[in-house]
Amino acid sequence: MKTVSSLKEMFEFSRKVKDRGQTIALVPTMGALHEGHLSLITAAKKKADIVIVSIFVNPLQFGQNEDLKKYPRRLKDDQNKLKPFDPITIFTPGEKDFTPAALAAGIEVEILSKPLCGKARPGHFRGVATIVAKLFNITQPNYAFFGEKDYQQQLIIKKMTKDLSYNIEVFSLPTVREYDGLAMSSRNIYLNERERSAAPILYKALNHAKDIIEKGEKDARRINLIIAQLLGREPLVKIEYVGVVDPETLEETKEIKGKILIAIAANIGQTRLIDNLIVNAK
Ligand code: PAF
Repeated sequence: MKTVSSLKEMFEFSRKVKDRGQTIALVPTMGALHEGHLSLITAAKKKADIVIVSIFVNPLQFGQNEDLKKYPRRLKDDQNKLKPFDPITIFTPGEKDFTPAALAAGIEVEILSKPLCGKARPGHFRGVATIVAKLFNITQPNYAFFGEKDYQQQLIIKKMTKDLSYNIEVFSLPTVREYDGLAMSSRNIYLNERERSAAPILYKALNHAKDIIEKGEKDARRINLIIAQLLGREPLVKIEYVGVVDPETLEETKEIKGKILIAIAANIGQTRLIDNLIVNAK
């Protein structure tokens, strides 16, 4: 298994792969790999000759009072999880090289970055888009893979890829869940026992909303309220937002028609979790 940290070495490696006429799939991650990441890597392996998994806890996407310092960093563990996928290339750029203090340029994906997670995390998606663009430039992938748990993120990356004419096909894959419905996330390890048992309420609330919509409810405000009420029953949950929005534009929906996205962000204790579901209304 190859682990590359130098930007130059990574660039040269990718260039050689391309020169040989082979294809590259990139799976960008911040490490602390779980089954969700592994499902992306499985799909990437099927698609391309060479798979690069980047592991970089990106300081640009964390706000000042967020969990950058305590975010899990466990490279040895991640390398072990990636062994069954060998041959695979791991890219672990250093923070000083990749996000030097003098970094001034950045990528802003207007409109899509404003609602939902963008409200409470200003600058977050600029940080994400900037780092993903840098990863694209260095690893030169033909394909890139993201999870739908971060629905807004994958939408923003697809828009960036199109608008900046990257010749890259971006895939988004379904959320992988724990046995009780909790969406897999590297942040789940922050949850204590009591919080962990409360956490599946996010997915339960999404499914409850889905049932009601499928039975004919059209009023997005009512759906919003029903979700808030259900989440409100769990004292450990503090809602950040509940969104009932158009899955392409992320604009708020009033009357539910066709495909809609229901998205939730909530704090369970100190841990911020997000989840979402696409529902097809009649
Ligand atoms: O989803 C993530 O882990 C990160 O936001 C990403 C895409 C690797 C960018 O840092």
